[in-house]
Amino acid sequence: RQVRRVVALLRDQPLHQTVTVNGWVKGMRRHKERTFLDIDDGSCYKKLQMVLKSDQRPATLGYHSAVSATGILQPSTHPSQEVELLVQQIQVVDVGMQGDYPFKARQTHPPDYTRRFPHLRPRTNSFASLLRVRSQMKAAIQHYFEREGFINVDTPILTTNDCEGGGEVFMVQHLMAQQQSKGSSEGKAQNSYFKQPAYLTVSGQLHLEAVANGLSKVYNFSPAFRSENSQTRRHLAEFWMVEAEEAFLVGREGMEALLGRLEGLVKEVMTEVLEVTSEDVQAHWQRSQGTEEAVRRALDKPFSRVSYAEALDILSGAPDLPPVSPGQDLAREHELYLTNSLGHRPVLLTDWPLTIKPFYMSACEDDSSLALAVDLLVPGVGEVAGGGLREHHLPTLQGRLPPPQHHHNNNSDNNNSLQWYLDLRALGGGVPTGGFGVGVERLLQFLLGIHNIKDTLPFPRWAHHCPC
Ligand code: 4AD
Ligand code: MG
Repeated sequence: RQVRRVVALLRDQPLHQTVTVNGWVKGMRRHKERTFLDIDDGSCYKKLQMVLKSDQRPATLGYHSAVSATGILQPSTHPSQEVELLVQQIQVVDVGMQGDYPFKARQTHPPDYTRRFPHLRPRTNSFASLLRVRSQMKAAIQHYFEREGFINVDTPILTTNDCEGGGEVFMVQHLMAQQQSKGSSEGKAQNSYFKQPAYLTVSGQLHLEAVANGLSKVYNFSPAFRSENSQTRRHLAEFWMVEAEEAFLVGREGMEALLGRLEGLVKEVMTEVLEVTSEDVQAHWQRSQGTEEAVRRALDKPFSRVSYAEALDILSGAPDLPPVSPGQDLAREHELYLTNSLGHRPVLLTDWPLTIKPFYMSACEDDSSLALAVDLLVPGVGEVAGGGLREHHLPTLQGRLPPPQHHHNNNSDNNNSLQWYLDLRALGGGVPTGGFGVGVERLLQFLLGIHNIKDTLPFPRWAHHCPC
């Protein structure tokens, strides 16, 4: 009987049965009588030891060869493995490492080197670990929201709004329209999306607010696009964000619930990922000093909480940092100083000046210059999440709407492109909502101690960089 099983499942497979395993050779020890292979099929951190008679060894077998082997599963003689495969038949599906193959056998390559080969780096142990952890993180996010009664909602990628109002949007171009409008740059801009301007979404928040008004507790998991011309180790042009929106969150009490929700999500997601993919996480921790302690501290203790005003006080005592004047946004160095001086733990930073937050933020009842907004800062990375309560009072919101040119909407037909958003308050039945967005890549950076965000997803896109 032939059973195809991935290595991850072989541990639960009855012994002394015939199985077929497909994978890649990641280690080979040649002895006179027998040859030992470590086979990796990417399903888990562990490799499967295969034992074959040396005269059975195909001549073309080498490091990174792809093989298909049939044999008997037996208890392993290898101390770190439960089972091994006593090979009866082995076939080389493809030879390993030809031509300019960029990785060397049994070597760990630095991430800024492997990053040059996005199409090949899933073959390295360390990037394969990252991809398994990332996949588990997405599952854990879904598990958390399902447990908490949230409904998953798909928000659009193409949209007419610039939710964050930062002007960092990518505009879509219609190839046919472009051809038709050859020679006329005016026509080109107007026809970008069937004669109206449209952008790639920067955040699904406004759409989630609409759905929260029918389903109470909702979340999305979506790519987001920002055209910021940043060459930093924490900015991407295309990243993934999980956003939650909850109805009936009002005032300080609503804000407390939101902070608890954000802290709960981050902790429970990290805990599940640690449990399920512990070997992959540990492998990263071994390469990144201090990360394990930072993550354990984040999980064991409550997150620190501080207001923007208190944060400025703390920062005024920092000797080597550029000063922050009241009303100014914080830079990454300020964020890191705060996490370090507040117990080397994640920090929920609240009560931001309304003027530096987007138009939809709700003001505090006790001080209308402050927003009921939060940024979650973590050691080593800085901001990983942002959110708050949304302004529910229609005239106040109308007064804060960005002027049309700020949402890049020069077409007069579309000057009211946020009318639908105002309708949520204007037509009755609308309730105050609150929510947040967590940057999945930045959370991975924190959990695994990954220095550069470009090493947290398979095909990173950043300014001037979209190679494949
Ligand atoms: O703080 P941001 O801009 O908040 C929003 O988009 C809200 N509308 C979310 C909401 O309330 N529903 O982005 C949220 C998070 C950031 O904290 C950061 O982790 C991540 O998204 N992020 C980026 N990650 C990688 N590259 C970029 N260019 C990012 N910009 C934001
Ligand atoms: Mg933010």
